[in-house]
Amino acid sequence: MHILDGKALSIIIKERVTAEVETIKDAGGKVPHLAAVLVGNDGGSETYVGHKVKACEYVGFNSTLVRRDDSCTEAELLEIVNELNQNPDIDGFIVQLPLPKHINGDKVLQAVDPKKDVDGFHPINVGRMMQGLDAYLPATPYGILQLLEHYHIETSGKHCVVIGRSNIVGSPMSVLLARNAYPGNCTVTLCHSRTGNLRDFTLQADIIVAALGKPGFVTADMVKEGAVVIDVGTTRVDDATKKAGWRLSGDVDFDNVAPKCSYITPVPGGVGPLTVTSLLMNTLRAAKGEVY
Ligand code: GUN
Repeated sequence: MHILDGKALSIIIKERVTAEVETIKDAGGKVPHLAAVLVGNDGGSETYVGHKVKACEYVGFNSTLVRRDDSCTEAELLEIVNELNQNPDIDGFIVQLPLPKHINGDKVLQAVDPKKDVDGFHPINVGRMMQGLDAYLPATPYGILQLLEHYHIETSGKHCVVIGRSNIVGSPMSVLLARNAYPGNCTVTLCHSRTGNLRDFTLQADIIVAALGKPGFVTADMVKEGAVVIDVGTTRVDDATKKAGWRLSGDVDFDNVAPKCSYITPVPGGVGPLTVTSLLMNTLRAAKGEVY
């Protein structure tokens, strides 16, 4: 069993991005600038946005954090999005999800200029990705592709079972792993909350991507010997032994599943750090005007 070390790969990618930023600066070019919009006080979102801003500093990007509390209206948020769309110094920006319930998230994401949509959530980017055209790829699936590629994991002709059909991870992951490219060329089964006999599917899987947000959901009896298991779960669970009183738990029962796997991602230190570096890579491409 091998660990897919997302933390280590993220450091390699950040060094690469840092070097590119140095080259841009030396040539007198514009320093990439990422903005993040955070509305409300969701604990997880605070952490993720904090990681994103810190990563920008690490690689030498400029970053701007726009914060609003829960009382922010949809109209106010749309105005912020509009200002970021118009601001020539901002190369790309993200609106951190989830948004408070009184805001229509779809409406907000559709207001983002697709050329600045470094999260890859705008329907134009999703459509372009579907058709195999150049597009910003959503950060988490893009990070998983990087991980599979870095470890030279064979995907062609393999059966991949994705658990979870979210717009952020499961759905785009299923499209990307089925595309005619490497990593890709898998036969993909997309399982979700209405799938009956999930275990019948997962037992056939050469690659499992667990992205449903239920701690420890994938158990050893659901996994074929030698499978590659990618755990996207990051749920906070109570843990009195930790200073914060909680720890992050993946969707996979790691201790019992890992011995059966050829490769597996840990939580934390697997997919999470690559979500951040994928965002940096998208922002770098935005700044260089590389995406369509
Ligand atoms: N919430 C959970 N994942 C993501 C992500 O990749 N981008 C944004 N904007 N919000 C998220």
